[in-house]
Amino acid sequence: MAATTVSPHGIVRVPHWHLTPPGTASGIGSVADRGPVAVPDARQRFALGGLSRSLHFLRHQGDVLFADAVRAGERDDGVLRYALRGAPRPIAVLYRPDHIKQLMTADEAITPSSTRLSPLAPIVGPDSVLTAVGERHRQQRALLLPRFHGKAVAAYQASIERATEAGLRAWPTGTPVPLTGIAQQITLEVIMSAIFGIADPSEVTPAEKSMGAAILRLMRLSSTPLGTMTQVINMRSSRPLGLLKLTLALVDRTIYRVLAERRAAGDHDSRDDIMALLLSAQTADGEPLSDSEIRDELMTLLLAGHETTSNTVAWMFERLTRNPAVYAQAREAARDGDDAYIEALVNETMRVRPVVPFVGRELLAPFDFGGHRVPAGHTALVSILLLHHRDDLYAQPFDFRPERFLGVRPNPHELMPFGGGVRRCLGAPLAVAELQTVAREILRRVQLRTHDRPGETPRYSNVTMIPARGGLVYAESID
Ligand code: HEM
Repeated sequence: MAATTVSPHGIVRVPHWHLTPPGTASGIGSVADRGPVAVPDARQRFALGGLSRSLHFLRHQGDVLFADAVRAGERDDGVLRYALRGAPRPIAVLYRPDHIKQLMTADEAITPSSTRLSPLAPIVGPDSVLTAVGERHRQQRALLLPRFHGKAVAAYQASIERATEAGLRAWPTGTPVPLTGIAQQITLEVIMSAIFGIADPSEVTPAEKSMGAAILRLMRLSSTPLGTMTQVINMRSSRPLGLLKLTLALVDRTIYRVLAERRAAGDHDSRDDIMALLLSAQTADGEPLSDSEIRDELMTLLLAGHETTSNTVAWMFERLTRNPAVYAQAREAARDGDDAYIEALVNETMRVRPVVPFVGRELLAPFDFGGHRVPAGHTALVSILLLHHRDDLYAQPFDFRPERFLGVRPNPHELMPFGGGVRRCLGAPLAVAELQTVAREILRRVQLRTHDRPGETPRYSNVTMIPARGGLVYAESID
């Protein structure tokens, strides 16, 4: 990777990691291969100090982390430390598999998830499986887990295929279209049908329909500059403020309307969808869940369940259109029914462009990561992005090469797009089923025009890393 440079005015310029040419080593995890590296002195670091450094980190975190990890290669203890203005705790960034394993297998009582401190907390609320910790989290996860595994996911396959078919039908040809838009409609329909048990989209009630539309509006806000500002305003608050408060009030109104409709129907004992499950569930004290507890859970599943998946689809085709040889091979694999290649393609996409680039744990006790002591009170952030670009794990890590995963069962602390440990993504099997189906169908049926523009810039929005232009593609023809 190109070295960091420093301007005569002391501004640290870091290269854009996503534009690193193929065949290049990252310099992370392979000190010997690294070229000369500029180590900025205190004056240069000061140039990015305080609030401006924090904002810079928010907007360009990938570039900053790559540059800092390459510099730290001199020590290579695999821990980067930051104190960012506005962040609730000092941060220790981990990117070595042994440190990550140590964190992910530690007692959860001293390493609870830091999601309650994340920008998602004011949106999903305090009573969601994403933000809850300890016993409450265990109970909610145990309640929901069967709906996202094994047979349940196989049952969602029909709705994945139906939604994909509708998405392809509505895709205009000959004009540039951001793939996130198409994929969001697909993933929203799939998660709505899982939650509400909708077998046929024409059965959606007006209340459910306006809830879907309100959720899409919320998603669109989060990927605009206004959304970034909203994120900064809400950074230290557990309750929504400003524009977010207003937008959420509209979404909540639609969710409560749907809830009232379902309670009035009173048919949850005879249904097996997620909404029915939540309506019949009881707390540890034998009380039914309150409307606001159910709202937090629904909001979590609706948000976690579709922005991540749709942006992964967008990144997949953003990468494929920049790598024509891989694109041709993937099309052939889809036409030949080569599922192993499609699986490898999904893994490689999530390796090079993990849509959730970090997962966090609060450290309630001091930790020693290979001799680097991190005091209690820090947030340990696993940089999935850096981990996935280590030279010692992935040769030429910036190359897009699905075949590196053929016949390989990835180690859970080396490839972790879904996080890990007891908080590993609840919806991972559903997401993988969606990604494989959507990829296969687009590859088989859509001829995308490739173009030679540089890769799309990653935009960091809430806790995600998404393609700045939404994975802009031209469909020449659709079968
Ligand atoms: C490509 C798609 C997806 C990616 C990359 C992704 C990634 C993640 C990550 C990194 C975490 C945090 C794990 C940790 O802290 O270790 C997470 C948590 C979670 N995800 Fe996903 N996710 C995806 C799709 C989904 C889907 C389809 C659902 C289903 C509704 C879902 C529901 C959840 C939930 C409920 C949690 C919280 C789990 C807990 O704290 O126990 N996700 N996801």
